[in-house]
Amino acid sequence: MDKSLYLAPFKHEDDLLKELAFKNIKVLETRGRAVLAEGLREDIIWAQSAWIGVLEIAITSIKDGAKKLRELNRNWALFSTGQHRRAELIQNELPHYPTKPIPFLAARPTQPMGGWTLWENDLIIASAQTTSLYPIGEMTFEEDQINPPSRAYLKLWEFFTCHSPRLPNASEHLLDMGACPGGWTWVLQSFGGAVTAVDKAPLEKRIAELPRVSLLNESAFGLAPNRIDKVDWFFSDIICYPERLLTLVGHWREAGVKNFVCTIKYQAETDFAVTHQFLEKFGGNIIHQHHNKHEVTWFLIES
Ligand SMILES: C[S@@+](CC[C@H](N)C(=O)[O-])C[C@H]1O[C@@H](n2cnc3c(N)ncnc32)[C@H](O)[C@@H]1O
Repeated sequence: MDKSLYLAPFKHEDDLLKELAFKNIKVLETRGRAVLAEGLREDIIWAQSAWIGVLEIAITSIKDGAKKLRELNRNWALFSTGQHRRAELIQNELPHYPTKPIPFLAARPTQPMGGWTLWENDLIIASAQTTSLYPIGEMTFEEDQINPPSRAYLKLWEFFTCHSPRLPNASEHLLDMGACPGGWTWVLQSFGGAVTAVDKAPLEKRIAELPRVSLLNESAFGLAPNRIDKVDWFFSDIICYPERLLTLVGHWREAGVKNFVCTIKYQAETDFAVTHQFLEKFGGNIIHQHHNKHEVTWFLIES
């Protein structure tokens, strides 16, 4: 039987389990944040790392476990689900990989990142190629403690460093909906093009005064696309119900915008049905980034 292991983000075990139920995927066993399930589905949003088609490797000793993993791959990140000390001793026998915080737009790793766990004393569950190039789907940045006015900038840093197929260029017009206090505007402005920031609340003054930034102090939902210059990228970090964002994206899509990066934010419960309408209506991808909280990132990059 094909099996995969999905690793939920910290405190989002329930979201992962509900998504697997929503997608009719049978759960075989849950150990903390690690969920072993039937099948080979890769499109699991609430998995920070998915190990598709796991191998079950019988081992006779610590050295034997390390040798068998080394034969399969160079980079292995441990997610410990039990027998922690023994697992740590096996990990110590494996090659080291970089764990330091990375700068914004650091080159993406070129080698596959494996994931493994010691499921029983004599049984490893592993996948040599996980869905994330970063160890168990986690990366931290060399943060800028001075310039950004909020920590929301880390979501865009992660998106452009780790996921986006391309970066905005200086000839493009970027629309930043729900921009206050200005973390996203600060990142977007760094690409060299014009940024229109839209929010009912004011941007922090020093962000509003950056070159090429203009501000529309009004509701994003009342802004008709024909009122502003051609938009190349639509960004939204607005706090609103997912249904409202879906409708808003529809208007800008009809107006011809090709590139979207939007945070879909949830109230008490994660709304899987509306979330999937983004994919059904517009295509693209949905991911839960390491720097997302109770929210996910939908993106569509077409040009
Ligand atoms: C999470 S904050 C955005 C943070 C921002 N991306 C940053 O990096 O600093 C959400 C923003 O959505 C804005 N918002 C809520 N309703 C809005 C609306 N109808 N139109 C525009 N902005 C709205 C709020 O004023 C708030 O500033």
